[in-house]
Amino acid sequence: MKLSKKMQNVKVMERNAGLFSCPICSASMQMADQASLVCENGHSFDLAKSGYVNLAPQAHMTKYDKSLFEARTAVMSSGFFAPVIQKLFHLIKQQIVDVDNPVVLDAGCGEGTHLSTIHAQLESRIVGIGIDLAKEGIVAASKNYPGFVWSVADLAAMPFRDEQIDVILNVLSPANFAEFTRLLKPGGTVLKVVPESGYLKELREVFYEGKPQKEESDPVGRFAEHFDDVQSERVTYTFELPEGLLVPLIHMTPLTWGASEEKIEEALRIGIREITIDLRVIWGIRR
Ligand SMILES: C[S@@+](CC[C@H](N)C(=O)[O-])C[C@H]1O[C@@H](n2cnc3c(N)ncnc32)[C@H](O)[C@@H]1O
Ligand SMILES: [Zn+2]
Repeated sequence: MKLSKKMQNVKVMERNAGLFSCPICSASMQMADQASLVCENGHSFDLAKSGYVNLAPQAHMTKYDKSLFEARTAVMSSGFFAPVIQKLFHLIKQQIVDVDNPVVLDAGCGEGTHLSTIHAQLESRIVGIGIDLAKEGIVAASKNYPGFVWSVADLAAMPFRDEQIDVILNVLSPANFAEFTRLLKPGGTVLKVVPESGYLKELREVFYEGKPQKEESDPVGRFAEHFDDVQSERVTYTFELPEGLLVPLIHMTPLTWGASEEKIEEALRIGIREITIDLRVIWGIRR
């Protein structure tokens, strides 16, 4: 009999409960009655209906809400990031070639499409863990993509024991390099994706009259302060927007937060057909 989506998540969580550490006291955790994660000191966290666990109960509402993540799922499932995901897939494949049960953690996974796509491309050879502080992202991920460890958690203080993770993914999300280093096994890899100057420039032309994207200065240099053998590759292409994808595209990105209705209408009226993806993949080894 096929397991329910919830049970698929619960089973993976149960098999991997030993990776967790208690967010309150850092003790090891185990699963109780397929219903909660409990630490040695009795701190207990119930799994939600869809089989994720909230280990950041203090997490407040963020601007990343349900409709933003629905829009992101629609866009990301359309192949929007396919060349970037392909690059990440190849890098991860190399990294895990000789590893038994490799663990890949997506820090700031949002609604989970990237992790799920890479997991499928790797023919499910990895244990996939997705964490995000936005509960709505994890709710969507746990419903849409069963068979992963999904957890609401803060990437600056992740509820996992030291040196358990083979690969950390960090796509368009904030990073905490000290925390990534703590979690990675010796020789483990971080793969970070940051926006470059042309990212979604057709949208920016409408919303910011073409003002360039505010970029982090020297993301590769900053990354290289924390990791060894750092390399990076810029991935630039235009994506032809399938019918109906412009509205979710406008709604999926923080770029349009605070934009007026008029600007959104203008973007729709212009009817953007092609959109520029301009990202940089940065990767390096735990020091
Ligand atoms: C632009 S979205 C990217 C989401 C996903 N990686 C993607 O590419 O679709 C940034 C994500 O970072 C998450 N985030 C921001 N601060 C975080 C933190 N301290 N801990 C965990 N996630 C965080 C947000 O909730 C949001 O889902
Ligand atoms: Zn505890």
